[in-house]
Amino acid sequence: MLKFLLVEKRLSITVMKLHDVKIRIIFFLRFLLEFGFVEEKKVLSKEFGDFRGNIVDIGCGIGNFSSCFPHARYTGVDIDPNLIDYAKRNYRGIFLARPGEETGLETNSFKGVFTIGLFHHVDKKTVEAICREIQRVVKPGGIIVVIEDDRPETGVRRMLFSLDAGGKFRAPDYFGNVFSRFFTIQKTYRIYPGFWRYTVFVMRTPRGSRLGAKSENLRIPRTK
Ligand SMILES: C[S@@+](CC[C@H](N)C(=O)[O-])C[C@H]1O[C@@H](n2cnc3c(N)ncnc32)[C@H](O)[C@@H]1O
Repeated sequence: MLKFLLVEKRLSITVMKLHDVKIRIIFFLRFLLEFGFVEEKKVLSKEFGDFRGNIVDIGCGIGNFSSCFPHARYTGVDIDPNLIDYAKRNYRGIFLARPGEETGLETNSFKGVFTIGLFHHVDKKTVEAICREIQRVVKPGGIIVVIEDDRPETGVRRMLFSLDAGGKFRAPDYFGNVFSRFFTIQKTYRIYPGFWRYTVFVMRTPRGSRLGAKSENLRIPRTK
């Protein structure tokens, strides 16, 4: 019996290590293709500053952006339990294996919310469900930053993007229209981390009533 348990434990450690190796390889490839995530980190630092308080990263993956918030109470939520397991072992923060559309987090409890490359992983119904969930958990006047992949327009980008597990790339106008039903869009701009291209949406929830959120501007700068 003891022998069986030992073999079982050894096997599960090996499986865990294999998962880790796979996660590390994928992360390293992304790190190379996106030039060390420098651009994404710049956005977080510009929009959130030296953030203090509760912040939630929805679709956090391995939670690598948690290190951008040394003074905040960072929570990472991801649907993939293997990534959350890895995050718990390697980064500081609270990590939860839950879908972004049903996080189980407390209502009105986060001053900041962000997502990076999440929405092209989900169908349109789920995009809206996640927005509704963000609207629920964020405090009135809270800040929401979405950094989302643009639809690839050139052959090389299309080829690289075809490797992406998400694949549901949509035009920024689509997101602008959806987000403006939930939040007040304050600004939008593009970033170009390595071979990638993202649109950044910086948004707020109204301080008073939660109703009546509308888009202030949706001017996407021209493609480079
Ligand atoms: C491209 S990865 C981005 C990970 C991380 N934000 C980053 O930039 O390193 C997209 C992540 O979204 C997660 N995801 C997909 N559908 C989700 C959902 N419904 N709720 C929460 N996370 C989801 C995936 O598991 C994956 O980790």
